[in-house]
Amino acid sequence: MAITLNTEFLTIDYEKSKLVPHIHEKIHGRTGAGSEYLGWLDWSSNLDEDFFREIEETAQRIQSNSDVLVVIGIGGSYLGSKAIIDMLGSHFPDKNKTEILYAGHNVSGSYLKELLNYLDSKEVSLNVISKSGTTTEPAIAFRVLRQYMEERYGSEAKNRIIATTDPDSGALFQMANEKGYQRFIIPRDIGGRYSVLTAVGMLPVAVAGFSFREIISGAANAEKELMDSNIEDNPAYKYAVIRQNLAQKGYTTEILASFESQLVPFHEWWKQLFGESEGKQNKGIFPASVIYPTDLHSMGQYIQDGKRNLFETMISFTHHNDDFHLPEDEQNLDELNYISNISLHDFNKKSLIGTASAHNEGGVPVLHLEVEKYDVYHVGYLMYFFMKACAMSAYLMDINPFDQPGVEFYKVNTKKLLGKTTI
Ligand code: PA5
Repeated sequence: MAITLNTEFLTIDYEKSKLVPHIHEKIHGRTGAGSEYLGWLDWSSNLDEDFFREIEETAQRIQSNSDVLVVIGIGGSYLGSKAIIDMLGSHFPDKNKTEILYAGHNVSGSYLKELLNYLDSKEVSLNVISKSGTTTEPAIAFRVLRQYMEERYGSEAKNRIIATTDPDSGALFQMANEKGYQRFIIPRDIGGRYSVLTAVGMLPVAVAGFSFREIISGAANAEKELMDSNIEDNPAYKYAVIRQNLAQKGYTTEILASFESQLVPFHEWWKQLFGESEGKQNKGIFPASVIYPTDLHSMGQYIQDGKRNLFETMISFTHHNDDFHLPEDEQNLDELNYISNISLHDFNKKSLIGTASAHNEGGVPVLHLEVEKYDVYHVGYLMYFFMKACAMSAYLMDINPFDQPGVEFYKVNTKKLLGKTTI
């Protein structure tokens, strides 16, 4: 098993676990609420070579003719690829690779202006991603960037724009057909926040130079290994049960904590997955996140000592190839020689245990997810792990994990205020 769930920093109550076998049947028998959106469940193990080939060929073309790929999308249409690319890529820009930038995830005039200026000295391609094809924020960014591409590249622009959208409907689908853009589909039975392993996430990841085959292979193995309905043999279900039991006892905020700053966008992806899947009917666990040690010096005080409605889920990686050792110093004025024999990765491992036991003593239950290795394969595994856990967790609360009715309210209000007559 590529993920181990350590529970030494919490008192376990398995009250909810008796519901798991029935919900497991509901998920795999596709009989629960929203089951028409369970396409992600066995997506990775059913992919054929055409899927890989089309993405690889397109990625190679973009890499050969573009310095920058602008991914236009919001929510599930951009968070997954950003999570993977930031997690596995370099901390600083790598001039030898096609850079992946994002638009349409905000509505900011200054952002768009700066982006257009930045693009002027680069060769550019666009990947516009929207399942519905009608989401306002990415549509605004796409209108601006489409016109920019048409002015700059003329008739060549259409060969530099790729649309990832619904198989046969929506404004983006229509436009892609009319303008002659290459199209990738988002399967009808996979919702936005569960779509990272489709072309939504995999095309940008491939353009960024990562083996998306390895990601899919990690997810496909997770499919096999996380099939057991016994929670002792299925850490995804065990995680779901523990978090629901904690919520029932009043621990209604979960803080995801990692020790690598490159995981910030991964945390955002996780927050969307759980927040949008579970936060319904006045129920849900509020998903928050921190990066340690950075946030130990800001949020650490609250977590140790503030309102006691928190539990923490810490993620660590057993092996990390990219490590660093603190050098010995003859004078030792900073008194750090006592740790010069360990790596920074090992320092963080000790810090995790120290922090978990401190927070636990302060009244915060802490779960610890230990992932075998920090690499492409295990990112695919981890993402599937969380999607499966999320489905179980939402069903344990009797919530449909796959819809998002609440998101519509702000859209309708904003459109009304802007004077749109047909909504
Ligand atoms: O999970 C979801 O369905 C949402 O968060 C969507 O990903 C987000 O609203 C973007 O929607 P669309 O891809 O239709 O533009």
